[in-house]
Amino acid sequence: MKSKSIHILAIESSCDDTSAAVLRNNTVLSNVVANQDIHAQYGGVVPELASRAHQQNIVPVMQQALAKANITANQLDAIAFTKGPGLMGSLLVGTSFAKSLALALDIPLIAVNHMQAHVLAHFIKDEAQRIPEFPFLCLTISGGHTQILKVEHYNQFKILGETIDDAVGEAFDKSAKIMGLPYPGGPLIDRYAKSGNKKAFKFSEPKTDNPLNFSFSGLKTAILYFLQKEIKKNPNFIEDHKEDICASIQHTIVNILSKRIKLASDQTGITRVAIAGGVSANSEIRATLKSFENTLNWQTYIPKFEYTTDNAAMIGIVGYYKYLQKDFDENDIKATSRLDINA
Ligand code: KG4
Ligand code: ZN
Repeated sequence: MKSKSIHILAIESSCDDTSAAVLRNNTVLSNVVANQDIHAQYGGVVPELASRAHQQNIVPVMQQALAKANITANQLDAIAFTKGPGLMGSLLVGTSFAKSLALALDIPLIAVNHMQAHVLAHFIKDEAQRIPEFPFLCLTISGGHTQILKVEHYNQFKILGETIDDAVGEAFDKSAKIMGLPYPGGPLIDRYAKSGNKKAFKFSEPKTDNPLNFSFSGLKTAILYFLQKEIKKNPNFIEDHKEDICASIQHTIVNILSKRIKLASDQTGITRVAIAGGVSANSEIRATLKSFENTLNWQTYIPKFEYTTDNAAMIGIVGYYKYLQKDFDENDIKATSRLDINA
């Protein structure tokens, strides 16, 4: 007998993107993301404005997700939502919305860890994507986190290395800000780097006590001093060399990431390697990891572009696995801004 399909509505509101998705089992029927352009003019996410924008966006985004999936709220089997980590005001909007909807529809509520969701996005069923077998390594790189994980099971993660200061997304965004580029600068650095020379300028790579850990605050300072020095000689230095500067910054960051993920693979003997999180949208990181298939004989897992930056489909896939385990939450569950990867 064929088992019944499970429909899950997932909500993501941890930072500055409001997103809703509908999944039928492990297949995504819709994944709607509303970006908040308002933050660009402030050079970073303004928490107060983010939660206000989430409040405005959440109902239309959910309605659009249901309409695109061609189902009605009454057909839903569960509501999954991001409980953390993230900005408290932003998380609260999604949390209270999910709770009220689950209560009104009288269906289970499933709280999801945002960082687990970035990793488990690899389990979304898609013709063009391979699904990793356990255990595999995952380099989780986003605006808030930078971790090398050994993924042992859907809900079992071992942190092998992590950043001791800024996240890699912050390194991209802060470098871009120093160059006068708007927030978020990561995608812009990627775009300008495409026509630049990545060997034009050299920035020294940080050292960390644990060779699998990361540190990016020194890089940001090195870039700042370098630009200040060059601008003294040529006030138009940034404009004149924008592409080369971006390519050099990006290449330095990609080198830092690749060295550590290679070391993690050497140490664990695991050659199944995934990337996840917003920064895994970066074209040089994607190409570099892909090249390790040939040079290092790895099996690599590069997420579909739409599942790299924050999205609700990834929340939905965690919701699906939790649903199968009947791992539901009570209506008094609270959002938490800080959350361990295994929580
Ligand atoms: O996962 P995400 O959407 O949000 C967090 O959970 O933090 O990641 C956002 C981060 C930002 O720092 C953004 O600049 C970066 O991902 N990002 C990129 C690219 N696309 C997004 N960084 C470098 N290259 C890109 N193409
Ligand atoms: Zn994220």
